[in-house]
Amino acid sequence: MREKVASLAKRRGFLWPSYELYGGVAGFYDWGPNGAALKRAVVEQWLRLFVIEEGMLELDSSLISPREVFEASGHLAEFSDLLIDCLKCGNSFRADHLAEGLHPNPDSLEAAQLEKIIKEAGVPCPECGGPLGSVRPFNLMFQTHVGPGTGREGFLRPETAQGIFVNFPQLFRLAREHLPFGVAQVGRAFRNEISPRQGVIRLREFNMAEAEVFFHPREREWTGEMGRYEDTELKLVPREGAERTCTLGDALETGLMHNRAVAYFVALTARFLTLVGIDPARLRFRQHLQTEMAHYASDCWDAEVLTSYGWVELVGVADRGDYDLRQHQERAGTDLTVFVQYPEPKELEVERLTPIHRALGPMFKGEAKPVAEALKASDSTAIKPDGSAKVVITDAEGHKKMVKVPKECFKLERVKERMTGERILPHVVEPSFGIDRIVWTVLEHAYTERKAEDGEVMTVLRLPPVVAPITAAVLPLVNKDGIEELAMRIDSELKSEGIRTAFDSGGSIGRRYARMDEAGVPFSVTVDYQSKEDQSVTIRWRDTQDQVRVPITHLAASLRELAGTD
Ligand code: GAP
Repeated sequence: MREKVASLAKRRGFLWPSYELYGGVAGFYDWGPNGAALKRAVVEQWLRLFVIEEGMLELDSSLISPREVFEASGHLAEFSDLLIDCLKCGNSFRADHLAEGLHPNPDSLEAAQLEKIIKEAGVPCPECGGPLGSVRPFNLMFQTHVGPGTGREGFLRPETAQGIFVNFPQLFRLAREHLPFGVAQVGRAFRNEISPRQGVIRLREFNMAEAEVFFHPREREWTGEMGRYEDTELKLVPREGAERTCTLGDALETGLMHNRAVAYFVALTARFLTLVGIDPARLRFRQHLQTEMAHYASDCWDAEVLTSYGWVELVGVADRGDYDLRQHQERAGTDLTVFVQYPEPKELEVERLTPIHRALGPMFKGEAKPVAEALKASDSTAIKPDGSAKVVITDAEGHKKMVKVPKECFKLERVKERMTGERILPHVVEPSFGIDRIVWTVLEHAYTERKAEDGEVMTVLRLPPVVAPITAAVLPLVNKDGIEELAMRIDSELKSEGIRTAFDSGGSIGRRYARMDEAGVPFSVTVDYQSKEDQSVTIRWRDTQDQVRVPITHLAASLRELAGTD
């Protein structure tokens, strides 16, 4: 099956390995004319749901970031896979891949545990059979330098998400300083995978579509209408307990899913994946084990789909808490908290920081006054584990900066206050989609075969019309008596209506239908002698081979209606 789809993908211009002219480079694939159009249509459907329907802000941020961004995000310290080298041929491999079959979940093991398992089983080098060395972490980010010479150290982004977090102040302002709000971004990401394999499943350069949704920490409730998805049936594999199929409503009521925002985006993910052609019977949502969660996540449900490679993760819906904003706030020294107003003012007891002026003066000199003001405006949430407090002041040049105040400089006092709101650091829920994996799976799930009357096996690519690269083929029955000219005129009219068409006048009509079926074209428009007489054509539907006759004047509207794009 996989070979058949890969061969069709290459033959029909969907996808092939990059740089074949130079022998290829593992982990890079190019999307050909049909593949690029299919990928774009999938992304358009994603943007339609996330940006238009859900009302998220769209962002297109830089691909290269300075070191500080990934120091803050934890990617420099944590974004590694465990690698093992062959001591004979020098090739490197992912250690968890070599431990497959030796442990139920090798991905969750630490370096020492993996090394022990591999050594005890006597696993040899898969390339040359030589002995393997020790297991060590390998950071997956591509490094570069910005500017000439050694320049400033930079990294190609391994996820689009950080571009959203570092733009949080501008985005919050554009969201009219209201929570919740979401930001959606589509773009390339780069990971220097140790051993890319399985076609586009593990690439070194790939396409992502991510949304970062910012919430009040106590209210993980998205603005979308949960009721719309309450009856959505989902196959769920919770961290504890057996796999089960239930509605989203049941999953929430029984506590199987406790995070309502994560649940909402799981349902939206299921809707998107089925819309673009993923078979719902081969889709499940699996909750991450504690040990496999990314360094920033506190809960995560993956959309996994059954493919010729087995179950493959296409999407992760993660609760990132305030991890990223907190990290950037600390590293950049910029206050990223936001003020949220209560519906009604409240009389509350708060623990205020009272400045001790005799200690503040000698320590902060000219800045003692703004530090004292900032302390008075802070509460106990500003206190760090070592007892010091972090507050934000405006310096003499008018710049905001974060200042660490030792514990000798203030005391805590309980006071009753009439509060109109509070400062909080928003929490984030993130649905993150791997577009290349999705498009590949769409191709696999669309692939079918049909036996022709003469016994020949024909391929039919049942791509949903909303994502098919070409909506309609225009086929003159014969190339004489003005039929071809009429067909050409119809083709150019459809094109000017914005419908993607392919004109094909070569070979028998049966052969041409077969070519279009294989390329996933949902509709074929046949122009025949009757077309000349009564200005009508037939539309043939790829999946059933049914035909209907429509007036040429209604052709574009009929195609749009049939494709579901009107
Ligand atoms: N911002 C969250 C994040 O990056 P992830 O699980 O590492 O999460 C999200 O990646 C999605 O990106 C995955 O579910 C997968 O579909 C896709 N993906 C990750 N690594 C990939 C790779 N090396 N090649 C192709 N797709 C990949």
